[in-house]
Amino acid sequence: MSERTLVLVKPDGVERGLVGEVISRIERKGLKLVALDLRTVDRQVAEEHYAEHAEKPFFGSLVEFITTGKVVAAIVEGPRAISAFRQLAGGTDPVEKAAPGSLRGDYGLEVQYNLVHGSDSPESAEREIKLWFPEG
Ligand code: CMP
Repeated sequence: MSERTLVLVKPDGVERGLVGEVISRIERKGLKLVALDLRTVDRQVAEEHYAEHAEKPFFGSLVEFITTGKVVAAIVEGPRAISAFRQLAGGTDPVEKAAPGSLRGDYGLEVQYNLVHGSDSPESAEREIKLWFPEG
């Protein structure tokens, strides 16, 4: 069964010229891009996107970071797309959790600057896709 996930290339990934690398890995895996957009994020969308982290000490700097540069937002589709992209991304901490061969494992060093975001559940995917692509 096919599902959809929301993928972001965060400002560090865009800044470092890794958009092509991320897209290439998504496509090589067999997942499909059904929407793709380079944009700046306003504070309201960023705060809503990260609402579950609102009480965390890093919330302020996370929102600050995601709103400071361009991001690429994408809807990615395929069988088990949510887990499949999370495997491509690697764990949240690029050093302690992401395996070599994953995007974060290959390119990341710091938790905040971990290059990409992928929805973590069908409920988050639905919420995040509506937030980032409200036009449907
Ligand atoms: P993401 O998958 O987008 O979801 C939440 C984000 O919060 C995560 O990636 C990291 O970028 C960020 N994050 C998680 N833990 C920390 C932390 N300890 N310090 C700073 N940022 C964090």
